[in-house]
Amino acid sequence: MAGKTVTNGAAQGKAARSGVDGAARGKAGMGRVDLIGAGPGDPELLTLRALRLLQQADVVVHDRLVSDEVMACVPAHVRRIPVGKAAGFHPVPQDEINALLVELGLAGLTVARLKGGDPTIFGRGGEEFEAVTRAGIPCDYVPGITAAQGAATSARFPLTHRGLATGLRHVTGHRARDAALDLDWASLADPQTTLAVYMGAANMAEIAAQLIRHGMPADLPVLAVSQASTPQEQRLHATLQDIAALLARKPLPAPVLFIVGHVAALAEDGALPQGLCHPEWRLVAHG
Ligand SMILES: C[S@@+](CC[C@H](N)C(=O)[O-])C[C@H]1O[C@@H](n2cnc3c(N)ncnc32)[C@H](O)[C@@H]1O
Repeated sequence: MAGKTVTNGAAQGKAARSGVDGAARGKAGMGRVDLIGAGPGDPELLTLRALRLLQQADVVVHDRLVSDEVMACVPAHVRRIPVGKAAGFHPVPQDEINALLVELGLAGLTVARLKGGDPTIFGRGGEEFEAVTRAGIPCDYVPGITAAQGAATSARFPLTHRGLATGLRHVTGHRARDAALDLDWASLADPQTTLAVYMGAANMAEIAAQLIRHGMPADLPVLAVSQASTPQEQRLHATLQDIAALLARKPLPAPVLFIVGHVAALAEDGALPQGLCHPEWRLVAHG
């Protein structure tokens, strides 16, 4: 497949972004794409496999949720292509990201597609996996610590706990193009199941009201965690009935994750525990 001409029109149109020229296409052999979880921010939460692949990559295609500290683990000579949304900029559309990954893989490059948290959880990793494998390019998932795990461990509480939660559900609090939320509220309103609500900041008033309407106790604990596992982490303790008002009064910087359930009462206040996000983390694992 080396030197194969890319026939995907969208991909050809994106040659400037991919930087793939004739020389790169000439590289012997098919490339590969790994969909790698970057975790919630702290580079010490990267898996060893993720770190190795970042250090072996020809190019890293990364999202906005990937922290600077994780990006510091990418060797300086490795090309970086940002495809995430930054303040004031539009994100690269998903079909263009898919085409870019195919373009780079067909060019024989080893591509690290680095995504915040875990690539299989609200990360559109499935669409990228399909596009890349459909093009015949080897592709694997590399799991990452998802935001719910990062938020809970950094506030030192468990997501399930005997007597408090018999299960855990990860749900999205947002739908594409701001469509109305379409969640099965009756099934979600189980106080014995911890709810980890991703992308819920804009819709928290509706989420809380629906959960209460469907039987959740109004005083059920809620923890909002902003920028979990980073030195900028902030936490807001609330209940279902007051979370929206508190957030309106004290908006938290994105990204924010909500943990709804009795276990949230076990969350610690205050600063990160010593040693979790130490100031020297920038020195970790340079290639
Ligand atoms: C598009 S989803 C990506 C989720 C990611 N794939 C994961 O497994 O964590 C983005 C949402 O994840 C949550 N999130 C991701 N990283 C976070 C962090 N460091 N702190 C708090 N929430 C985070 C927020 O709810 C954010 O709106």
